[in-house]
Amino acid sequence: MQILQDKKIVLGISGGIAAYKTPELVRRLKEQGADVRVVMTEGAKAFITPLTLQAVSGNQVADSLLDTQAELAMGHIELAKWADIIIIAPATADIVARIACGMANDLLSTLCLATTAPIAITPAMNQQMWHAQATQDNIAKLTERGCLIWGPGSGEQACGDIGLGRMLEVNDIVTLSSDFFADKYLTHQHWVITAGPTREAIDPVRYISNHSSGKMGYAIAHAALRAGAKVTLITGPVAISAPTGCELIHVSSAEEMHQQALKFAPHCSTFVACAAVADYRVAKIATQKIKKSSEAMQLELVRNHDIVADVASLKHKPFMVGFAAETQNVEHYARGKLMRKNLDLIAANDVAKSGQGFNSDNNALTLFSAIDKTEIPLASKQIVANHLVSLINQHFLAKQDS
Ligand code: CTP
Repeated sequence: MQILQDKKIVLGISGGIAAYKTPELVRRLKEQGADVRVVMTEGAKAFITPLTLQAVSGNQVADSLLDTQAELAMGHIELAKWADIIIIAPATADIVARIACGMANDLLSTLCLATTAPIAITPAMNQQMWHAQATQDNIAKLTERGCLIWGPGSGEQACGDIGLGRMLEVNDIVTLSSDFFADKYLTHQHWVITAGPTREAIDPVRYISNHSSGKMGYAIAHAALRAGAKVTLITGPVAISAPTGCELIHVSSAEEMHQQALKFAPHCSTFVACAAVADYRVAKIATQKIKKSSEAMQLELVRNHDIVADVASLKHKPFMVGFAAETQNVEHYARGKLMRKNLDLIAANDVAKSGQGFNSDNNALTLFSAIDKTEIPLASKQIVANHLVSLINQHFLAKQDS
């Protein structure tokens, strides 16, 4: 079943240039199963027509508080009660201010006052307007009242400025909507996840690293967040953005990752070691760029700490999950690491198979415990991560009960 199946969404559109993206947003929400009713401010109609939104939503668009016909069809109080969530996208500085003040001078602001449904605000405005003290005070007031603030994003703006204030992309808004309705089975759990590669410096300009993209670890962080966990993501250098809402700790070397892991792990319920940690570091990092002198050169390498094994040997160890990326004898090596590193579970994948593993968007895993194994079939890393997080939780609960 789609996560937004039968969810009733009121999409409030206010008058910003990003309003041109809303027909696509409506289509994508509907694709996920939602029933969408659009409410527009007067300003919004300068950017996009109600007819377009009526066509894509399949519902009449509401735009006036004082329209007797519309009130007969579905009155504003009825609409406020109908909604499972009100998403305002784009939310201009003006609508943010009016909702913060509790005004009811048009249909959208009135709905926000009349509803008991959660309100998600997706700000879209010039970066200076976003940073203005008045806007920040309004956003703080709305956050305190329990409104969800989705974004804004950063980048080039319609006015030519660059900075914070862009409406989130349609995909991100759909993801946040789905996350909002996802089953929050990890509430009160704290997950610490390591992700990405580490970099072991050779000199100020060179390092030893590996091909890890961080995608799997980031997908696990996202899956745990959407299930309601608090997530600390300890990440090596990657080129992807972290899921909204996690505590993000940037590290470079294995030593730094080791330090941060030992700092956060004693307070968490579950530790997932997804990082591709360099097993060795350079014994003596040159302080200046190394110049080539002879035909061959030798680097002396020394062993790094085994992060997951060290966390597993803590007195109050969390529920421990490791990864094993193997190119052969997958089960044999994975079970060896499970025992040797004192883990509860290990998720193994065969990186020799094409289309899965390092740098790929897809993955397939086998999850081993000391007594059983479960296959997670090939799918996008996010789907695999959702599946994996749910399985980890089942094992976690079973261990608590035993
Ligand atoms: N790991 C770790 N610290 C290290 C090395 C690995 O925390 N210094 C973790 C990884 O994050 C992963 C698990 O240990 O969860 C297995 O990593 P892998 O590289 O497959 O195993 P190694 O122990 O390094 O063994 P080998 O390289 O010999 O396969």
